[in-house]
Amino acid sequence: MNKKIIPPVFPQINVPHVSEKGLQELILDVQKKLNIQLTSYKQDYIKRRLLSRMNSTRSKDFVEYHQYLRTHPEEEDKLRKALTINVTKFHRDPDVFNLVGKEIFPAIIREKRTIKIWSAGCSSGEEPYTFAILLYDQSKPGTLLNNVITATDIDEVILNKAKAGIYEKSALENLSEMQISKHFDKTDEGKFRIKDHIRNMVRFQVHDLMTGIPVARMFDVVACRNVTIYFNEQQKKDLVKLVHESLGNNGYYIMGMSEYMSKDVEHLFKPYKPMLKIFQKIS
Ligand SMILES: C[S@@+](CC[C@H](N)C(=O)[O-])C[C@H]1O[C@@H](n2cnc3c(N)ncnc32)[C@H](O)[C@@H]1O
Repeated sequence: MNKKIIPPVFPQINVPHVSEKGLQELILDVQKKLNIQLTSYKQDYIKRRLLSRMNSTRSKDFVEYHQYLRTHPEEEDKLRKALTINVTKFHRDPDVFNLVGKEIFPAIIREKRTIKIWSAGCSSGEEPYTFAILLYDQSKPGTLLNNVITATDIDEVILNKAKAGIYEKSALENLSEMQISKHFDKTDEGKFRIKDHIRNMVRFQVHDLMTGIPVARMFDVVACRNVTIYFNEQQKKDLVKLVHESLGNNGYYIMGMSEYMSKDVEHLFKPYKPMLKIFQKIS
């Protein structure tokens, strides 16, 4: 199993003066069609992604691309991939992270002295830092929390952003003002830098999930969310086996809300909160 996924490289976009005509209508329609919330992301980001799809479909402007999208249903999936490649945010899917903070972490802390978490496919770091914030706020003062979270991604560039831990306000919209002031410093440019007590809880590492090799074992929680968009059915099954191997007894597996577990590997886990895509390892 030495297959390696190469992160998609977006074609060089060389469209110097594309009129913005039709852009807002296109964004609104895309939100509805693909059921993804785009308003919290910077417009430039969305535009770049749309332009890459326009290049590939030879559409000369947003209006023409919108028409293409309407008449080519297969384009929806390609656009979704282009839009969501590294997309993430703090407390993405608040119900999931609320449950982790209120139920799962306290249950683990009651049983064990230390906790080990893996955020696999962590992108720019919002997911592992969300775990860190939840855990920090649960823990007794003085608890040793350095490196309790391993955060990995195949993309070294995005990991450097994660390590820097500097975010736009929009990435923090699901955090409370209290969490923001406690765990972030405001930079001179109006951005938000994660404070060292949270930063030090996370260890970042390049890791390719397709290698099938666990980054470590005996994790209490493995979150591998919104990563399998490029995986075929076999690769998805192999990933579930990899997560199973990486978890300790009764360890929790958190999938993305739109991801699913194939029947062939379902026996490896029991449902914990299936609606939130949280499962527990069966040993
Ligand atoms: C959409 S982000 C998900 C971020 C976060 N888990 C979340 O749910 O908000 C997907 C991430 O998976 C990473 N990824 C894709 N294929 C991977 C692989 N084979 N191994 C590790 N990471 C991978 C991408 O580089 C990207 O940063």
